Amino acid sequence: MNLKGRDFLTLKDFSPEEIQYLLDLGAKLKEKKKKGIPMDIHRGKNVALIFEKTSTRTRCAFEVAAHDLGMGTTYLDPVSSQIGKKESIADTARVLAGMYEGIEYRGYGQEIVEELAKYADVPVWNGLTNEYHPTQMLADLLTVREHFGRLKGIKLVYMGDARYNMGNSLMVACAKMGLDFVACGPKKYFPAERLVNQCREYAAASGSSITLTENVEEGVKGAHVIYTDVWVSMGEPDEVWEERIRELTPYKVTKQVMDLAGEEAIFLHCLPAFHDLKTRIGRDMGERFGIRDMEVTDEVFESERSKVFDEAENRMHTIKAVMAATLGE
Ligand code: CP
Ligand code: NVA
Repeated sequence: MNLKGRDFLTLKDFSPEEIQYLLDLGAKLKEKKKKGIPMDIHRGKNVALIFEKTSTRTRCAFEVAAHDLGMGTTYLDPVSSQIGKKESIADTARVLAGMYEGIEYRGYGQEIVEELAKYADVPVWNGLTNEYHPTQMLADLLTVREHFGRLKGIKLVYMGDARYNMGNSLMVACAKMGLDFVACGPKKYFPAERLVNQCREYAAASGSSITLTENVEEGVKGAHVIYTDVWVSMGEPDEVWEERIRELTPYKVTKQVMDLAGEEAIFLHCLPAFHDLKTRIGRDMGERFGIRDMEVTDEVFESERSKVFDEAENRMHTIKAVMAATLGE
């Protein structure tokens, strides 16, 4: 398997074998890290990390992974570079490609990261766009595989707003890798029909299925993984909170949902999560709407079934795999 020079923009661009390879490499790098075996195979290289939206996990994962591989990093925050204000993406791409061996980009439309990749002749890695979050997918798949020992035949249910980056990406990842995917939420939050059709083709090839349902009981029954994400994503206007809380509360992950899923089911969330009032936005929404949590209850989040911190750690190991492979393992 040779992924040298490839961009990592969405899992749609990767075959199941290539995804499998990245998961295996992530697992191998994880084991090496745990044993304290050095992996600085890219010594002397440098990567640029562009974040037009904020981040904890993705930024830290890229920085630690790059450091472990022997590379230097430059973090460009959402306000202090020229990007978008004085310099176009095409110009930025060519400037950075002259100094760095790879570029990570987190921002808004998928077309921006595609444009960056078009003009940069070094690998470009998507650290989240409105449409996709592919590095998160590798961490999620690895976490599922570690827990259940397999991916094929696993039923993963995504609860809530399934038409944004997480719902879209999970549908693609599951369909490619043979997991049965269910989007469970109000119809208007289902992923776009075009993407659903494309994923149904992947699912036919991998022997899995795509189900869209508004019925919680039906959707979650027999699930191995219950997955959710924030109801309002970065970059969305404040005005949508009220509507989202009203429309998505029936799809909150509660103990009852986990019990309906069955004894085996685990809980995953890309994080950050609103499971209590210990954040500024959480407190604000608590006061405005008289709620204690949003997409998941604190009870589920803090339970044994919740594997969210294993999942977060796996961001680093799998991002390391993406960089190692595309820079030439
Ligand atoms: N899951 C994830 O991408 O988290 P950050 O926004 O903290 O990077
Ligand atoms: N849907 C969320 C994912 C955060 C990792 C967002 O885009 O804000």
